[in-house]
Amino acid sequence: MVRTAVVPVAGLGTRFLPATKAVPKELLPLVDRPAIQYVVEEVVHNGLEDVLLVTAAGKSAIEDHFDRRLDLEAALAAKGRDADLAEVRALAELATIHAVRQHEPLGLGHAVLMAAGHVDADESFAVLLGDDLLEPDSTFLGRMVAAHERTGVAVVALLRVDDPDRLAQYGVVAAEPGERDGEVWVHDLVEKPAPGTAPSDLAVIGRYVLPGRVLEVLRDTPPGRGGEIQLTDALRTLAAERPIVGLVLDEPRHDAGEKLGFLTATLALAARRPDLGPDLVAWLHANLADLEARAGGDTGGAR
Ligand code: G1P
Repeated sequence: MVRTAVVPVAGLGTRFLPATKAVPKELLPLVDRPAIQYVVEEVVHNGLEDVLLVTAAGKSAIEDHFDRRLDLEAALAAKGRDADLAEVRALAELATIHAVRQHEPLGLGHAVLMAAGHVDADESFAVLLGDDLLEPDSTFLGRMVAAHERTGVAVVALLRVDDPDRLAQYGVVAAEPGERDGEVWVHDLVEKPAPGTAPSDLAVIGRYVLPGRVLEVLRDTPPGRGGEIQLTDALRTLAAERPIVGLVLDEPRHDAGEKLGFLTATLALAARRPDLGPDLVAWLHANLADLEARAGGDTGGAR
């Protein structure tokens, strides 16, 4: 059984400066919820109940978001704002949230290794990176857990990326067709291959289901690309022992770790909200010419 989701949130969020100077990037709102809330809701929606935040100095507001806030609750209750009160309280009940500090930014592999005191050595767990956002009703993580329970090996989420320059921003797998449609056997991985050298067009995105043994492997994994302990390198060791599973994403995903992806994710999430969607889409229709003019008319390259 996979019980725990490890969510690294220790990064400095430099791609969103100056917004992230005093506010953790995980708390930047998409519509009216901070990015991290979507991740925790995805964990819960897929049947996991325990979240381990791997956090860092200056980021304790993330934990506060999932705690009770009695003064706020009292103020909302006094004003009869029952719906807001229920929403604020529900956040503290959403999942069991734990936090551990990563004292130094030594890489994603090192952040995952911080889970060693929390999960048992033989206990499988999930890892979710908040920069990758799936739709709120996504069951992809649950499918990854099922594939892990069926095969017993690590499972990574994969995205087909055509553009070699974009592909170079990810871990990329070498793979063969797998047991089922949409699945591949991964026998090797390369962290951020130079353009033109990637072993395939299948990029690892931020969803992993890992056997507890990965922690033992991470302990012995030396710093790799960028001098950081890379999760990709530990997966490489596992895949060399026995191929691991890649599950190819077949649903929308937003790269909320970069500005354009953050904006398009906001639009996509707002569009499906009954209280906002119709008005937002009507506004976009009515203002498209003005938006195009503001963009200097050069909108042909949009993704
Ligand atoms: C990390 C991983 C990389 C993976 C990516 C997914 O990179 O190291 O293998 O493809 O997440 O988002 P980062 O984005 O932290 O540089």
